[in-house]
Amino acid sequence: MCSVNRLIAKNRYSALLAAAGLCCGFLAHAQSSAPHLERQGNRHALIVNGKPFLLLGAQINNSSSWESTLPQVWPALADLHANTVEAPVYWESMEPVKGQFQFANVDRLVEGARAHNLHLVLLWFGTWKNGQNHYVPEWIKSDTQQYPREISASGKLLDVMSPSSTNNLSADEHAFAMLMRHVKSIDGAQHTVIMIQVENESGAIGTVRDHSPEADREFASGVPSELTKALHLTSPSNWQKAYGADADERFGAYQTARYIGQVAAAGKAEYALPIYCNVWITYPVHALENRDRASAGQEYPSGGPQQANIQIWKAAAPAIDLLGPDFYSDDFTLFQQVVKDYARPDNPLFIPETALNKNFGRDFYYALGAGAIGFSPFGIDYTGWTLKGKEIPEFLTHDFSLLAPMQDVLARLNFEDKLRTAVETPGQSRRTIAFGDIDAVVSFGFPQSDGEQPPGTPDSHGRALIAQTGPMEFVVTGVDASVSFRLRQKFGQQHNQQLEILRVDQGQYNQGKWQTRRIWNGDQTDRGLNFQQAQPAVVRIRLHTIPLHAPEASR
Ligand code: DGJ
Repeated sequence: MCSVNRLIAKNRYSALLAAAGLCCGFLAHAQSSAPHLERQGNRHALIVNGKPFLLLGAQINNSSSWESTLPQVWPALADLHANTVEAPVYWESMEPVKGQFQFANVDRLVEGARAHNLHLVLLWFGTWKNGQNHYVPEWIKSDTQQYPREISASGKLLDVMSPSSTNNLSADEHAFAMLMRHVKSIDGAQHTVIMIQVENESGAIGTVRDHSPEADREFASGVPSELTKALHLTSPSNWQKAYGADADERFGAYQTARYIGQVAAAGKAEYALPIYCNVWITYPVHALENRDRASAGQEYPSGGPQQANIQIWKAAAPAIDLLGPDFYSDDFTLFQQVVKDYARPDNPLFIPETALNKNFGRDFYYALGAGAIGFSPFGIDYTGWTLKGKEIPEFLTHDFSLLAPMQDVLARLNFEDKLRTAVETPGQSRRTIAFGDIDAVVSFGFPQSDGEQPPGTPDSHGRALIAQTGPMEFVVTGVDASVSFRLRQKFGQQHNQQLEILRVDQGQYNQGKWQTRRIWNGDQTDRGLNFQQAQPAVVRIRLHTIPLHAPEASR
């Protein structure tokens, strides 16, 4: 091995060894333990059966968790190449009579997931569903005295449960705890269920905050000290002083977070699975409208874990492991910002719902590169509600089908911070990704001519994924992109070295082991590894270095 190779290898191997040690550590620890989240630096992993797990999810439609509809669910998930189904559990049917629980739908979901070789994320449609209370049982809906609602500023009784009410909280805590107890009893050893979503897109539609007498009293008594301490607020006592015009919404966020955090804690006391809340985020208002942001309680549920409420939620609901943004927009700049907002050292990135649009692949790659533990389109089943017909469009299956066979490898490499992605944006047809002293240069669109900027693709859909598997070895895939590797210029010159391809194998992982289908060379590799949309491929490339210049004597 030449000296530069040794140098590079040394850096990489020490990182690899550290990672291997760490993997062995958590393997031993977690083999028998329940699914859980782990953090390593700024990367997170969902650990399932002792290994990092990449959640290639699919959320079914709201009314699809039924015996009558599940037969139309399973084939769609297989067609998408999902490894996990996200499916609702309805409080109204789980506890139709106070204190009497029926878990038939839960059992059916667990059995169905197992029969179709899937993991399962249960979505607790409890006190909140899209900022309203529509899934609470009839005995709650019909007794507004015992189970008080939020009241708007004008005095209207809303279809939102008041988070100030201890009756509401105890009812939800009890039901959710019973659900978790049941899940543990049927799945505590097998770990089909890997995560739980508590409530769905919480917050209030119809008011900025609750104006019930209890809520008003609480609002008047000021910001609680637990929050002022956690958030280092300087004007602690008063909501208006602390948050100005946003006081009502922040108060609502505190109340909602505290309530759901307590529901989550009650569930975890029975069975400590990772628990998350999905988020109805705030979207920018149309440029022509004469205001700078969406209105709380009208265009999104007020007090939910939207971008501006993350801090309050983190402080007020420590039992919630992560806040996961649902994303329903074409706006990539917004998606990048949302990823930045939610991918935090204290918040693993997980996208529990996305729209079924052509940008699926772009957003999925981008999230993966930012360390996402999972990604999931919404409305995947053949009930006809979202997808018309009995087929999943290619723009949804393309990336899941290519990455599913190597999901374990990707999950591990992502956790070890060795996975990067490049995504094309309009006007930016080339990107460089750094792996230590090696640069991967990604050029989007074909044909590409030497010495010229790559053309890009007409709708900017180019993307590439590059994962480092050894000191001089990478696994690469992409869509309408070419990928070439070179030594960082300064480094190469300093050490009189240049990078060359030793060999490129096209193939795939099978049970974690690489299997070669053919060797790529010539037109497939000469101007970079060429990935065309119509020919999905994964390659493993091995590189080496040779001197940049011939020795003096031979010139
Ligand atoms: C987001 C919600 O979380 C889902 O349950 C569903 O209502 C979708 N919106 C529909 O687009």
